[in-house]
Amino acid sequence: MLFTIVRSHALIALFLTCPLVGAPTRTSAPVVESASDLGVGRMIADQTFKDLAGRQHRFSELAKGQGFVIAMSSATCPISKRYLFAAITEMLAGRPISASATSAPGCELDFKPSVGPAVATTYHRDVARILQQNCVRCHHDDGIAPFPLDELGSVKDHAKAIKRVLVEGTMPPWFAAPPKDGGPSPFANDCSLGRKDKADLIAWIDSKDRPLGDPEEAPVPLTFAGEWSIGQPDAIIPLSKAYVIKASGVMPYQTDVVTTTFPEDKWVKAYEIIPSARDVVHHVIVMVHPPGAKLVSGGAENYWAIYVPGNSARVFDDGIARKLPAGARISFQIHYTPSGKIVEERMRLGLIFAKEAPRLEMRTVGVANHKLSIPPNASAHVETKTQRVPFDLTVTNLLAHMHVRGKAFKYELIHPDGREELLLDIPHYDFNWQLRYDFKQPRVLPRDSSLRLTAVYDNSVGNRANPDPSKTVNWGQQTYDEMMIGYLEYVVPAGQKSRLKAR
Ligand code: HEC
Repeated sequence: MLFTIVRSHALIALFLTCPLVGAPTRTSAPVVESASDLGVGRMIADQTFKDLAGRQHRFSELAKGQGFVIAMSSATCPISKRYLFAAITEMLAGRPISASATSAPGCELDFKPSVGPAVATTYHRDVARILQQNCVRCHHDDGIAPFPLDELGSVKDHAKAIKRVLVEGTMPPWFAAPPKDGGPSPFANDCSLGRKDKADLIAWIDSKDRPLGDPEEAPVPLTFAGEWSIGQPDAIIPLSKAYVIKASGVMPYQTDVVTTTFPEDKWVKAYEIIPSARDVVHHVIVMVHPPGAKLVSGGAENYWAIYVPGNSARVFDDGIARKLPAGARISFQIHYTPSGKIVEERMRLGLIFAKEAPRLEMRTVGVANHKLSIPPNASAHVETKTQRVPFDLTVTNLLAHMHVRGKAFKYELIHPDGREELLLDIPHYDFNWQLRYDFKQPRVLPRDSSLRLTAVYDNSVGNRANPDPSKTVNWGQQTYDEMMIGYLEYVVPAGQKSRLKAR
């Protein structure tokens, strides 16, 4: 079964049926694949085709509405009958499509590949689309990135820098090593650029005349949702006060605490954090403290929500939510970074509540090594931490946290029979991008397996972010101290009492 949504004149997007990603009970669900490797968003040549009634059509005539869907299916295959419409619903609602390509389990259709003559890469047909698919969600006016990539002038102005970041592999921001066997990425939010897209962008930048091509072939410009990308929140919780961010120097972490007044427990199915001045907010860790619980600080607590550049909103899969107990206090641990002028900042947390009780509750646990000690001038100091898994743990994503001396991070699973498996390898850690790595299918870490975390730190002069190579560095809150936390988000049946403690 194959879905194709054609959005504009001969622009093709491929959607294979996609049952809910993240529902741990389904074992034969289609797996999310790399949209860019499959050509999602690429321009295809206009085609004529006959419908079932024998009428002749062209793609270009049909693509006038909000899109059209071509479903190709074997009429006799028993497996391919379950169609799911998440992608179409999201597209019609103007929301980003959470899974734009998946594998299609079932009976394979045998298509002959069509091979056309090679044509020069042009701006309107190719480059603008690649940028739109991979860069523009951050690089647009008012986006989080410093310049737009949906305007030709700006693309030309930054062509050299674009080539550099593509060659270095630093944009789009994605730091997990690709699987060693060359297989598909295990992560649903892997935004690394496909090989062909990268080659085409570089070829266009390197070409003598950077051909623009036919403006008729330009993609329909993206529009961006209103202020809240998750939709209008049911509740908006501002910080207790505005913070004044000085023009330069280092700001100590700020902790703001807000007491909620909801009379009953709430299940949160989506959240978003919107700073009032984005350029001074580096990252924010939000924690929820049930009434009576003391506010602990030190960093290894289990975060409830997180804000990092490019990742400030979260919508949980259907049936999954996070709990906000009645009367809970919410603390915001904020890393402000001065931007050259004095700025006042007061961010808001927007929450959307689930209409009914979820089946599964999302939780976080942090596995930390508080005893780390990094000697002066060491360029590759290794710290490890091993933690037994006390029960079958259904993990949805991983997030590694270190500070500016962090160089590399690894999560390995040692199965009960001793077999070792690499879960996540971050060979070049970047403090600026505290990324979540979302598994395509939740991973069950079996009871009595062990999680081994390995962190590498660079405390040498060679690390340009290093504030002081002559210092022995220990655990601490500030960015000039260090941390080593491997966060895991996991699901349990909603309402389960027992909890994992931060280690
Ligand atoms: C998740 C959001 C996001 C995506 C996706 C993204 N960028 Fe960026 N980009 C940023 C941010 C934020 C910065 C500013 C980083 C900083 O100030 O350190 C940036 C900076 C850059 C820079 C300047 C960096 C430098 O070292 O000079 C270039 C060039 C760039 N991006 C190109 C791209 C291209 C090309 C793509 C797509 C192939 C892309 N970006 C995708 C967020 C993004």
